[in-house]
Amino acid sequence: MADYSELIKAALNAREKSYCPYSGYAVGAALLCADGTVFKGCNIENAAYGPSVCAERCAVFKAVSEGYSDFTAIAVVGGNKGYSPTDYAYPCGVCRQVLSEFAAPDSFDVCVAVSETDFKIFKLSELLPNSFGAGNLKENS
Ligand code: THU
Repeated sequence: MADYSELIKAALNAREKSYCPYSGYAVGAALLCADGTVFKGCNIENAAYGPSVCAERCAVFKAVSEGYSDFTAIAVVGGNKGYSPTDYAYPCGVCRQVLSEFAAPDSFDVCVAVSETDFKIFKLSELLPNSFGAGNLKENS
């Protein structure tokens, strides 16, 4: 099993930048690229609620906009702002779908962590089975 302690550390660091005045729930993510580059993201909320973005999508959009789209893993940490995480923060459905656009579902690791030593690892395909993807749109063409 890969050692994700550095990636978790990056996610914890990213979480410190969370802008979450409405929910008070701070999330950090660190996305690992195939070449070892790491993109960090945090949740960024908005007074109109809808325009808010999750930490995971923040990291993915940063990466793709910089020309990176070959991803191997993501670490995610979340919990009440101002406190260390106490439970695993799983990516929401929308973030799972966005990850599936770029990641190979059977090899991409999703590491949900409480700390560098307390974490769980799932393949994206476990968290998003029977997913809808580009293949569906090509079936009739
Ligand atoms: N949030 C994330 O950043 N990632 C997720 O996968 C789930 C939820 C954020 C959105 C919102 O700012 C806060 O957590 C509470 O829902």
